[in-house]
Amino acid sequence: MAHFRLVLDETSMGSSLQIFFLLCLLGSLSLCYGYDPLDPNGNVTIKWDIMQSNGDTYDVRVSVFNFQLFRHVEKPGWRLSWDWVNDEVIWNMWGAQATQQGNCSRFKGQRPHSCEKSPVIVDLLPGTPYNTQVANCCKGGVLSSFNQDPSKHGSMFQMNVGGATNSTSFTIAENFTLGLDGYTCGNAQSVPASQFTADGGRRWTQAISTWNVTCIYSQFRASPNPKCCVSLSAFYNNTIVPCPKCSCRCQGLSGAECLRPGEVLQMPHDPTDHPPALVRCTNHMCPIRVHWHVKQSYQAYWRVKITITNFNVIRNYSEWNLVVQHPNLRSLTEVYSFTYQPLYVHGYVNNTGMFWGIKSFNDLLLQSGESGNVQTEMLLRKEPSDFTFREGWAFPRKISFNGDDCVMPQPDDYPRLPNAAMAHDHRILNLPLSIIITLLPLINHFLELFLR
Ligand SMILES: *[C@@H]1O[C@H](CO)[C@@H](O)[C@H](O)[C@H]1NC(C)=O
Ligand SMILES: *[C@@H]1O[C@H](CO)[C@@H](O)[C@H](O)[C@H]1NC(C)=O
Ligand SMILES: *[C@@H]1O[C@H](CO)[C@@H](O)[C@H](O)[C@H]1NC(C)=O
Ligand SMILES: *[C@@H]1O[C@H](CO)[C@@H](O)[C@H](O)[C@H]1NC(C)=O
Ligand SMILES: *[C@@H]1O[C@H](CO)[C@@H](O)[C@H](O)[C@H]1NC(C)=O
Ligand SMILES: *[C@@H]1O[C@H](CO)[C@@H](O)[C@H](O)[C@H]1NC(C)=O
Ligand SMILES: *[C@@H]1O[C@H](CO)[C@@H](O)[C@H](O)[C@H]1NC(C)=O
Ligand SMILES: *[C@@H]1O[C@H](CO)[C@@H](O)[C@H](O)[C@H]1NC(C)=O
Repeated sequence: MAHFRLVLDETSMGSSLQIFFLLCLLGSLSLCYGYDPLDPNGNVTIKWDIMQSNGDTYDVRVSVFNFQLFRHVEKPGWRLSWDWVNDEVIWNMWGAQATQQGNCSRFKGQRPHSCEKSPVIVDLLPGTPYNTQVANCCKGGVLSSFNQDPSKHGSMFQMNVGGATNSTSFTIAENFTLGLDGYTCGNAQSVPASQFTADGGRRWTQAISTWNVTCIYSQFRASPNPKCCVSLSAFYNNTIVPCPKCSCRCQGLSGAECLRPGEVLQMPHDPTDHPPALVRCTNHMCPIRVHWHVKQSYQAYWRVKITITNFNVIRNYSEWNLVVQHPNLRSLTEVYSFTYQPLYVHGYVNNTGMFWGIKSFNDLLLQSGESGNVQTEMLLRKEPSDFTFREGWAFPRKISFNGDDCVMPQPDDYPRLPNAAMAHDHRILNLPLSIIITLLPLINHFLELFLR
């Protein structure tokens, strides 16, 4: 009975996935690009507030807000860019800076901060001199996920713009990009003017006009290869089910390099760039492995241990997070050494939650090595309505690390209870899921081609 429930669950999960991909392939690209069922409204919004006009120049306040529940922006951070429509130049900037001054030869005397047609703006680092700052600025381009630290999910800078042939009309720039893998930004939309509070809320001022630009993330756009995989074990079976072979890449295939035991790392390090992953050689070749161990059973509770291991030798993951789907999460009783927050997602019946590290204790997942892992244990209450150790029910339905889905082992391979007498007549039912899982990489590649 319990078994059938599981299989049906997974099959229906699988087929909704399938329908989803089908819709993508049938050409409704807007449906598939960037859609994450666990964070359907997730986006990064760029807000462009025209604050005041000074005759031939005007002031713009630009804010970047991360409205994604569990995806964050890590070092080296955003590199915001746009195309000016007229001949605008940036006279001055506070809280951020343009990477290039560009050709300002048409100006005599004082030269603008940047005359680039498509300026690239980078955030200032924390602790830059006070006179170059504005409120809520200077975070090195790093934005926390909305759930993890709402106070750090936004950043702001201000600039003085001039030089446009027609400075009485504020033409909004075009073609915004965040300079982050996987994000695409839409067109600027005119929205109701922002209001700002001054004098402790006793006075409100208002922007002259406001535009919003919405940017959406797509895992497929960011990388065709997964970045994480799941391995499983249980106290009732001494088989450790490893991550599927070639979960992320295959050793030796198309330049997939890895660090063999004993090999020494030599790396030219450019701090302004995300170093590409260099992983230790494994069968799965993933930078991140999540291990789910069903550790113990008590009368009314059961205990799970989760270990996240970093196989990337050149990268620390700051403010990492894990999103887990399991039906028993609704009865989660205790979580040790991680922070936990349920995700209330429409259509998912309280079976999804988010874990992340405790500040200055384990919120930094160190590069591969002796301390390159973090772990937690949790206690879940057995609900008589559905609890069972049978047929893999105790294993997670889905796991993502930093918002990217992890590759799961095939349900057929899950550690089995010793007496698995009834575990054989349902392979046919399992088939669709297996097929879908087998086909996923193919579908991935197809999508990649489509999205180029
Ligand atoms: C962006 O996210 C915010 C917060 O979840 C939401 O209110 C807004 O509607 C989203 N924008 C779009 C265009 O989806
Ligand atoms: C924005 O990008 C499009 C397509 O690349 C281009 O045709 C257009 O000129 C760009 N806009 C500006 C203001 O440069
Ligand atoms: C700089 O711009 C001026 C026109 O404003 C142009 O004559 C000159 O060739 C440009 N210089 C370079 C190096 O592009
Ligand atoms: C400047 O823009 C305003 C408003 O769009 C327009 O009415 C005016 O004709 C423009 N002036 C020039 C010189 O293009
Ligand atoms: C524009 O963005 C701001 C935050 O960046 C948000 O609060 C506001 O709701 C957005 N407006 C619209 C109409 O989406
Ligand atoms: C990771 O963090 C540790 C401790 O802060 C530091 O010593 C190490 O250099 C960092 N590694 C990388 C690749 O940034
Ligand atoms: C999910 O949990 C919330 C808060 O505990 C509760 O109000 C809601 O009824 C639950 N929904 C379902 C479908 O169980
Ligand atoms: C443990 O699980 C594996 C994988 O499902 C299975 O092949 C094996 O028979 C199980 N061991 C026992 C003792 O049941």
